[in-house]
Amino acid sequence: MIIKTAEFVTSAVKPLQYPPELLPEIAFSGRSNVGKSSLINAILNRKRLVKTSSTPGRTQLINFFVINDVFSFVDLPGYGYAKVPVSIKKTWGPMIEKYLSGRKTLRGVVTILDMRRIPSPEDLSLIRWLNQLGIPIIPVLTKSDKLSKTNQIKQKAMIADTLSINQENLIVFSAKTKQGVPDVWNAVEKLLTVQSVIDKT
Ligand code: GTP
Ligand code: MG
Repeated sequence: MIIKTAEFVTSAVKPLQYPPELLPEIAFSGRSNVGKSSLINAILNRKRLVKTSSTPGRTQLINFFVINDVFSFVDLPGYGYAKVPVSIKKTWGPMIEKYLSGRKTLRGVVTILDMRRIPSPEDLSLIRWLNQLGIPIIPVLTKSDKLSKTNQIKQKAMIADTLSINQENLIVFSAKTKQGVPDVWNAVEKLLTVQSVIDKT
């Protein structure tokens, strides 16, 4: 994918603030601090389009970006960070659920997991829920640079097992080394194209 333009559009907490449903959209979800914003920057080859932070809970709004004027990316706030105030935790669930269940242009969700960890109950329930809604997922295991090749193989097998997903469907990724960037694009492009073919019929 050649990235000609990648622009921030808006931040939203509720549907009225979302951009109009004009372009096919891919969302990025995962635990707080897992590396969602870093992954988006890495695949777009932009250093600071999306704000990243070593402090978990940095992204607390739904952020919309338009790429090449033809599709959009949505950086979702992370879940599962203990120190986030209760008031924010309470709004997080409904905010994300509303977006995921109501967004007509949503083509799929890149579900990002830390390759070093066992998927959390929240990771599992999000993936289960997306499956129930019939929303395609692209499971990505990130921070692969923090593991040896041997441990990458072990973790991949363990996570595939926990998610009941075929190992071949897991993308091993690192925002640091850029491992997996072409794989993420392949999967994203597939979701963007498949649906637009259906739209035309
Ligand atoms: P929230 O917006 O707070 O939910 O976090 P996020 O999921 O957007 O994570 P973010 O991209 O801000 O990254 C969190 C931290 O992890 C930062 O310190 C990043 O530099 C680091 N990080 C992200 N991806 C990678 C990776 O692939 N490898 C390594 N080594 N560090 C990473
Ligand atoms: Mg973020």
